[in-house]
Amino acid sequence: MIAFRALAVLAAVAGALANPLQARQANNTNVDIHDIVSVLDMQIHINIPNILTLQANHTATDGTIGTQVNELITAFDAAHDALLNTPVSSGSTTEKPTNDDISVIFGDVMQLVATGLSGLTPAVVPSFTTIVARLDPSVSAAATQLNTTLPGSINFVHTLMLDAQQFLVKEGTWPMTLAALGF
Ligand SMILES: *[C@@H]1O[C@H](CO)[C@@H](O)[C@H](O)[C@H]1NC(C)=O
Ligand SMILES: *[C@@H]1O[C@H](CO)[C@@H](O)[C@H](O)[C@H]1NC(C)=O
Ligand SMILES: *[C@@H]1O[C@H](CO)[C@@H](O)[C@H](O)[C@H]1NC(C)=O
Repeated sequence: MIAFRALAVLAAVAGALANPLQARQANNTNVDIHDIVSVLDMQIHINIPNILTLQANHTATDGTIGTQVNELITAFDAAHDALLNTPVSSGSTTEKPTNDDISVIFGDVMQLVATGLSGLTPAVVPSFTTIVARLDPSVSAAATQLNTTLPGSINFVHTLMLDAQQFLVKEGTWPMTLAALGF
């Protein structure tokens, strides 16, 4: 009887301990993260070509570029909010979408943003520096949140950005984003 009671107490203690441990166990939310980053990537593939067209067409102005940049800010803010509302992923290196699949998409986003704005100068778009500087907090917040929701995912993005980060450095308006990417 005493042994049974001791066992019951032990079981209850073990149960109380096991639950918080279980709750802390992260699930693989890579599918959700992949969807969020893919939606962002699709939007970047609309705005960056628009910016290049405006530039080639000599219709790049504070107004036309500002509109595209506003849409980019909205897209990065939406990605940040969606990632913030996604449980931290345990990730996977084997199950699709893998951690690397997600980093590759975000790396593509970052490369397009870095190179797509590099042809614009204040000679063409007088407020260029101010307009582009508005992107920095939104892009860096999305990158930092991605690295939280899928821990360490920015490490591979950093590697993918080794070449293109020079454009961010040259534009001079990306201190927060460069830091968020580990540069
Ligand atoms: C993981 O998923 C299980 C089952 O859906 C759930 O009970 C648990 O709370 C989840 N863990 C986290 C950390 O969200
Ligand atoms: C290109 O420029 C012309 C003349 O300024 C304008 O009518 C046209 O809408 C522009 N196209 C694009 C894609 O910006
Ligand atoms: C991304 O997260 C990893 C681990 O979660 C961390 O070691 C790394 O410093 C973070 N990267 C940046 C640029 O903050």
